[in-house]
Amino acid sequence: MSNRRDFIKTAGLASLGASIWGCTANNGTPDAYSLDHIRESSLKQHRQTFNMCGYAAPKIDTVRIACIGVGARGTVTLRRIRHIANIDIKAVCDVRTSHAEGGKKLLEGVFSPDVYTGVDDWKKICERNDIDLVYINTPWDMHVPMALFAMEHGKHVAVEVPAAQTVDECWQLVETSERTRMHCMMLENCCYGFFEMLTINMARQGFFGDLIHVEGAYIHDNFNSLFNKDGRWDLWRLKANRRTGNLYPTHGIGPVCQALGVNRGDKLDYLVSLSSADFSFEPKLKELAATDPDFKQFLNDSFRGNLNTTSIRTTKGRSMMIQHDFSSPRPYSRIHLISGTKGTAQEYPLPGRIALGHEWMTEDEIKEIEAQYTPEIIKHVGKMYSEVGEQDHGDYMSMIVNWRLIDCLRNGLPLDQDVYDAALWSVIIPLSVWSVANKSAPIDIPDFTCGKWQTNKEFDLTLNGGGTTKII
Ligand SMILES: NC(=O)c1ccc[n+]([C@@H]2O[C@H](COP(=O)([O-])OP(=O)(O)OC[C@H]3O[C@@H](n4cnc5c(N)ncnc54)[C@H](O)[C@@H]3O)[C@@H](O)[C@H]2O)c1
Repeated sequence: MSNRRDFIKTAGLASLGASIWGCTANNGTPDAYSLDHIRESSLKQHRQTFNMCGYAAPKIDTVRIACIGVGARGTVTLRRIRHIANIDIKAVCDVRTSHAEGGKKLLEGVFSPDVYTGVDDWKKICERNDIDLVYINTPWDMHVPMALFAMEHGKHVAVEVPAAQTVDECWQLVETSERTRMHCMMLENCCYGFFEMLTINMARQGFFGDLIHVEGAYIHDNFNSLFNKDGRWDLWRLKANRRTGNLYPTHGIGPVCQALGVNRGDKLDYLVSLSSADFSFEPKLKELAATDPDFKQFLNDSFRGNLNTTSIRTTKGRSMMIQHDFSSPRPYSRIHLISGTKGTAQEYPLPGRIALGHEWMTEDEIKEIEAQYTPEIIKHVGKMYSEVGEQDHGDYMSMIVNWRLIDCLRNGLPLDQDVYDAALWSVIIPLSVWSVANKSAPIDIPDFTCGKWQTNKEFDLTLNGGGTTKII
């Protein structure tokens, strides 16, 4: 796929070569993005060398962090995490000097990070011996090379969503994390939505009975941001939309997988995926290219269809529907529906609703349920984050995902989302691309736990052994 090769080159990542990508995408075949390779790599057998699910790394009293990528998300990340006690931000890195310097300025009076602006400087950061956690906020294609290099150099990794783009990359994350025993957590903030956490806990306590069907989505009309040349670096997200499938599955699938106990009691078996045609990119690009030559390069490209719908069956026979639409004028929705033999919950359209039969419960009845089932982590952090203010936390779910990661690292606790979740929730991207291109044919979903899903324990919702990190 030539656009990906150009991207790797311009991003200065070409030097990583085949050893990092585990394929030879930038110097020949097989191309990890090709349909044939997606199918072949999805069938490959792997062996687990160490189980990172439930793994507790040695405690780190003060977590020393390097932030790579200080764009839109990276900037809000810095604003947010500076409120977490017992961290030290040692380095900020962005190829756009003004962004890297801006990141340092944001932290003035709290931390004095070193600033890096070279295209390969993230490697120098990973090679430092005074950093515990590398936090990656860069464009999608850079996540895996950076995460692998960081783990190889003894650093835990926190990576923005989605963690990976190809099946090979997903396995590389898993195998490197197992071999190095470094955590690789994808920061799926939506798992910490209040309604999501509430319903995950309710599902675990049997409120819904046997779970039958779940739905999740990322339906967000953020189309115009894809064409903002002054915003996202190098129009990377527009370029990434040249694949057709579910390119952003993790906000939708993460919470419902947690509700079903996927990777911990159940596993995703196979998927089928269908995309509508593109009704928005082509006209928009024609309009822009008429006055702006920067957009002419896209006129011969085909783009993702507006809406992708992916259906998944789990090994225990539950069904799942995951949607993605970033380009149609629709109200925001992550759906978040859980349906069982006794009851149902559905978050969107807001407000979230719960039913034990044909009728949705009243507001008062839902308040009672919330009092009974809201997990400890939400009660604990919910109070703390509200003192930070929206301007700094960006969204409360991200505040919680950051706080929880640091608290787990400080207290030597296993992570709520491990490398197997990062790989599984991300692998929907290449597999949906393959299925869409093959008239919605089914494709098996790799078991990144190599069978351990049968015995892996649920992650902890109680805050046992943790909860000691303050928000300041
Ligand atoms: N979890 C969420 O809710 C959420 C929300 C928004 C974005 N994101 C994720 O955050 C990530 C970043 O998205 P964004 O919107 O901030 O994009 P962005 O373009 O605004 O930021 C990316 C930054 O990476 C920098 N960069 C590029 N090459 C680099 C290199 N070699 N070394 C260091 N820095 C480099 C760019 O200069 C840019 O500032 C994406 O993975 C996206 O999916 C997640």
